[in-house]
Amino acid sequence: MPKIPIIKILLALLVVFSCVCSSINGAVSYDDKAIIINGRRRILMSGSIHYPRSTPQMWPDLIKKAKDGGLDVIQTYVFWNGHEPSPGKYNFEGRYDLVKFIKTVQEAGLYVNLRIGPYVCAEWNFGGFPVWLKYVPGMSFRTDNGPFKSAMQRFTEKIVSMMKSEELFEPQGGPIILSQIENEYGPVEWDIGAPGKAYTKWAAQMADGLKTGVPWIMCKQEDAPDPMIDTCNGFYCEKFTPNKPYKPKMFTELWTGWFTEFGGAIPTRPVEDIAYSVLRFIQNNGSFVNYYMYHGGTNFGRTAGGLFITTSYDYDAPIDEYGLLNEPKWGHLRDLHTAIKLVEPVLVSSYPTVTYPGKNQEIHVFLPKNGDCAAFLSNYDPQFSAKMTFGNSQYDLPPWSISILQDCKKEVFNTAKVNAPSTQRKMTSVGSFSWQSYNEEAPSSDSSDTLSMEGLYEQLNVTRDESDYLWYLTEVYISPNEQFLKTGSSLCLQ
Ligand SMILES: *[C@@H]1O[C@H](CO)[C@@H](O)[C@H](O)[C@H]1NC(C)=O
Ligand SMILES: *[C@@H]1O[C@H](CO)[C@@H](O)[C@H](O)[C@H]1NC(C)=O
Repeated sequence: MPKIPIIKILLALLVVFSCVCSSINGAVSYDDKAIIINGRRRILMSGSIHYPRSTPQMWPDLIKKAKDGGLDVIQTYVFWNGHEPSPGKYNFEGRYDLVKFIKTVQEAGLYVNLRIGPYVCAEWNFGGFPVWLKYVPGMSFRTDNGPFKSAMQRFTEKIVSMMKSEELFEPQGGPIILSQIENEYGPVEWDIGAPGKAYTKWAAQMADGLKTGVPWIMCKQEDAPDPMIDTCNGFYCEKFTPNKPYKPKMFTELWTGWFTEFGGAIPTRPVEDIAYSVLRFIQNNGSFVNYYMYHGGTNFGRTAGGLFITTSYDYDAPIDEYGLLNEPKWGHLRDLHTAIKLVEPVLVSSYPTVTYPGKNQEIHVFLPKNGDCAAFLSNYDPQFSAKMTFGNSQYDLPPWSISILQDCKKEVFNTAKVNAPSTQRKMTSVGSFSWQSYNEEAPSSDSSDTLSMEGLYEQLNVTRDESDYLWYLTEVYISPNEQFLKTGSSLCLQ
């Protein structure tokens, strides 16, 4: 029967051929289940580390700690005002060495989610916009406005072409698997209506036209046009669904704490609740979770933005402001990631079947065709623990907790059972500091950077955000003939 070998050979050729094709045609894609990298669906655990919020000396250690903590991806914004302090004059040095940061992530073997924005918010000065942008004639931010769109496109293209020439996108062999255009624009669009809608469409088309070879996301953007993926930011996102049935369910900002404001308490979030939020998301078809922040760091210089934002951007993140492990937060999340990896192949190849064994209780079972099995047992009661029977076993669930059962049997993790050690931070004095004082030179009316006019300047227009200070000088000429000098009556300036 000579036909069979021929068919076999043909099939073998087809298989070889289709493998070659899929590795050429975009190595990163997606379906309803997950981001697909080189043909493999992934449950990706990601963490935000903003490169200008630490020093280049700290980067390798921070990224190593992220890797040891079980992350797959580092997420960062791109900070336009740091990179283009005046029009056309670029800065990619020191803390702003974006390429070096991404290559450091690559060397550690992790992926990158690059959120170009270029509006980023981020408790960052002016949301990342350079102040000079405000004074470009006809400028109106983040709407269907010609000057704005052309400036945004120019900067976005600049960053994308920089990444391409350094071969940093995944299809080029680089670590960038995802990019982001705009940032939480949905609520703004809702407010302003038609011009906002037009701008969203334009931004999506502009970004898609840059042909990065990796998917784009738009966070908090319910109407993200195809092929953009809309994603969720929040403390919990399990109820979120993407706007099309063929897009994966992604959590771009799971808040690990919050930023600190002068006069306010220092915010914290228990790691048990963070782990609970992660698993509630994943057991409901979620496949990408990013911790915002994983290392918050420091707002150096005058980069803090928004009212009363402190220089510390610690965020109660798993790695603290100084680059030290914040335990048990870091360790408990590492244990969570280890457990998720154990069941990852099961999660990406089936949908959960959900049952409700009791009040505030749920069981999610993943049962792919190959006979594997993974289950999540949930006790949503905030106060009472629960005993749940599943298969032939009984499991103890503390209040507000979820367990992962590998092979639908063995509890490999429970969000509220923390095994990671707590560390107490001990502050020790490094010796005595002393105050130094110095005198600032008072400006004089004849120096070259003095301006004069009748009335007040708009401060930002003059300083262009290079300083918080604008000195006002005034001169009063008092003639020797003034009456008050003679009579001694009190002076009244008018
Ligand atoms: C998971 O996704 C499938 C396919 O879209 C859907 O039918 C199912 O309801 C989802 N399950 C949960 C728990 O969200
Ligand atoms: C900003 O300053 C320029 C001159 O430097 C002036 O022409 C312009 O009107 C100012 N704009 C605003 C908004 O104050």
